[in-house]
Amino acid sequence: MASDFKLLQQELKQASAQDVLVRVLAEFGNRIVLASSLGAEDQVLTHMAFSINPDVRVFVLDTGRLHSETYDVIAETQSKLGVKYEIYFPDAKSVEDMVNEKGINLFYASVENRKTCCGIRKVEPLRRALSSADAWITGLRRSQSVTRAKLDTVEWDDAHNMLKVNPLADWSEDDVWQYIKSNSVPYNALHDVGFPSIGCAPCTRAIAPGEDVRAGRWWWEDPANKECGLHVVDGKLVRAKSGDSKEVFE
Ligand code: ADX
Ligand code: SF4
Repeated sequence: MASDFKLLQQELKQASAQDVLVRVLAEFGNRIVLASSLGAEDQVLTHMAFSINPDVRVFVLDTGRLHSETYDVIAETQSKLGVKYEIYFPDAKSVEDMVNEKGINLFYASVENRKTCCGIRKVEPLRRALSSADAWITGLRRSQSVTRAKLDTVEWDDAHNMLKVNPLADWSEDDVWQYIKSNSVPYNALHDVGFPSIGCAPCTRAIAPGEDVRAGRWWWEDPANKECGLHVVDGKLVRAKSGDSKEVFE
C-alpha cells in the first residue's frame, strides 16, 4: 500500500480540491469517509463531495459538548443538501466514569485532563468511525496552525494505518469563504460572531480581530499543544513527507 500511496501522493500534488475528491472517491468508493466537524472547511468539502457523489459517506463525532448552532448545521445540511450523516457518540460508561471522577469540566484543570476528555469523546469514536474505511478525508489546511504547516494533500496516517486526504491543504481562509458564499453552502452561525474555528462549546471562544484563527480553541493552552488527538500520533504530530522521511513535531 505504501507504494500506491506514494504514487497517489505524487499524482495529486498539484491537483485542485475538486480533482482530488473526484479521484479518491472513484478510487475508494464506500471505503472512504469524510470527517466533518461542521466547520466552514468541512462544509465546503461536504458540498463538493456530495456534488460529485450523492452517496458519499460523511461522519460527525458528536462529543456531547457541541454548540447548539453546530447541531443546527447538521439539520440544515441534511435537509438542504440531503446529506445523511453517520453520527458517532463516545462510549457512555467511559464518559460517566471520567466526569464522575474528574469533574464535568475537567479539561480546564490540566492538559492531561483535556487530553483524557478528547481521547474519550473524540479519539476513540474516531477509531470506530474509521474502522469501516481504507481512507479518510479531512478539512485540514496548512495555514490553520503551526502544527499543520507541513501538511500534504495526501498523507499516510500511521495512527489509523490508512490514507488521509486533505484536499484543502493549500486553501486560504478567503478561498473557503468565497466557495461557501458563491455556492450558498449552509454554515455555522457562530462563524459570523467571531468563531473561525469551532470545536466543543466549553473549549472554544470567539477571537478578537487580528488574533490567530485557532486562538479561540483551548485558549488557556500553549499553541504547540493545541491538537485534540484526531490528527496526532503517540502524542506527536506526524506529517508524512515526500520521500521516506517523516517530520515529527513535539
Ligand atoms: S481539531 O483537531 O482541532 O479538533 P479541527 O476542528 O481544526 O480539528 O478540524 C480539523 C478536521 O478534523 C476537520 O476538518 C474534520 O475533518 C476533522 N474533525 C474535527 N472535529 C471533528 C468532529 N467532531 N467530527 C468529525 N470530524 C472532525
Ligand atoms: Fe472534551 Fe474539550 Fe476535547 Fe471536547 S474539545 S472532547 S469538551 S476537552
